[in-house]
Amino acid sequence: EKGGYPHFMLKEIHEQPKAFKDTMAGRILPEKGEIKLDDVHLSKEYLQGIKKIFIVACGTAYHAGMVGKYVIEKLTRVPVEVDIASEFRYRDPMIDKNTLVIIISQSGETADTLAALRESKKLGARVLAITNVVGSSVSREADDIIYTWAGPEIAVASTKAYSTQLIALDFIALYIARTLGRICEKDFQEITSAMKNLPDQAKIILGHEDKIKSLAQKFFDREDVFYIGRGLDYPLSLEGALKLKEISYIHAEAYAAGELKHGTLALIEEGVPVIAPVTQEHLFEKTLSNIKEVKAREGFVVALANEGNEEIKKSVDDVIYIPKTHPILTPILAVIPMQLLAYYAAVARGCDVDKPRNLAKSVTVE
Ligand code: M6R
Repeated sequence: EKGGYPHFMLKEIHEQPKAFKDTMAGRILPEKGEIKLDDVHLSKEYLQGIKKIFIVACGTAYHAGMVGKYVIEKLTRVPVEVDIASEFRYRDPMIDKNTLVIIISQSGETADTLAALRESKKLGARVLAITNVVGSSVSREADDIIYTWAGPEIAVASTKAYSTQLIALDFIALYIARTLGRICEKDFQEITSAMKNLPDQAKIILGHEDKIKSLAQKFFDREDVFYIGRGLDYPLSLEGALKLKEISYIHAEAYAAGELKHGTLALIEEGVPVIAPVTQEHLFEKTLSNIKEVKAREGFVVALANEGNEEIKKSVDDVIYIPKTHPILTPILAVIPMQLLAYYAAVARGCDVDKPRNLAKSVTVE
């Protein structure tokens, strides 16, 4: 049942090229310049009336939502707020019929997420759900649905569900931007043709598995690991840190790189591992200066960079490269090394990778 892999998590990490393909199948219509989403019916008139989009989810799905905020705002210029479901539902959220609420849940059964969905509908908002489970509570109660065709995810740590949630969010962004006429044909074609390369590019990253494994073996015995990133590399860092702490029990924290000086730098001393994604080229110099601050305190820095970025090598201890894609799509690829780093650190520590202590796959109680 694990297809020859020692753990479901590793199997599911390796299933990503196929999951990407399945999630994209039939949804990009290049000749029409359209995104086709069978269970999404947001008319132009409706979208023109939307004042705000809310994205609500828990855990890894919440991190996907943070990426979604960047992408949707960038392509559609509609303001997006992201919230944790257990906060959203108790804070009297400011939503009404002019708010589109996007609910993200792999299982479609998470108690707080489902409660947030119901609260949103009660307040008159339309709810669009991204879920991996057909027939789940979330899929039954939402007004519109995008399925992530990732296949069953068994490991508690979410991997292929997360990366396909990002694809679904890109589709929503493109769909809204297209419907509202806010993206030109050229940009649409550029992004969608880059999306089509993602399955093969994911395979290339999986081909670097041995290198990532040996890097994980360099820090698996540490007590703390920090992740720093800017722009889309920030939610990516949060996701990398969650993956690591969840399955290896190493204390891992992520910071927006610019926040380093506002506190965390005090914790950096000789040998402290810092994972630093630098996939956003327009922010490279800024993050590089944060990396230099870490190096000046003798931290152990592993960067995650786009293929072709030779400059980064001079300032870090090691680099994991990812193939080049459109800047808004980088988290879909860059999360794969993050998942593998967490996986191999947990294996090196002898942890029960698929069933981490105290955690359940689906949190159906509050
Ligand atoms: O099924 P859901 O997507 O609603 O689950 C949300 C979280 O419980 C889930 O993503 C959790 O954070 C994972 N264990 C993270 O790997």
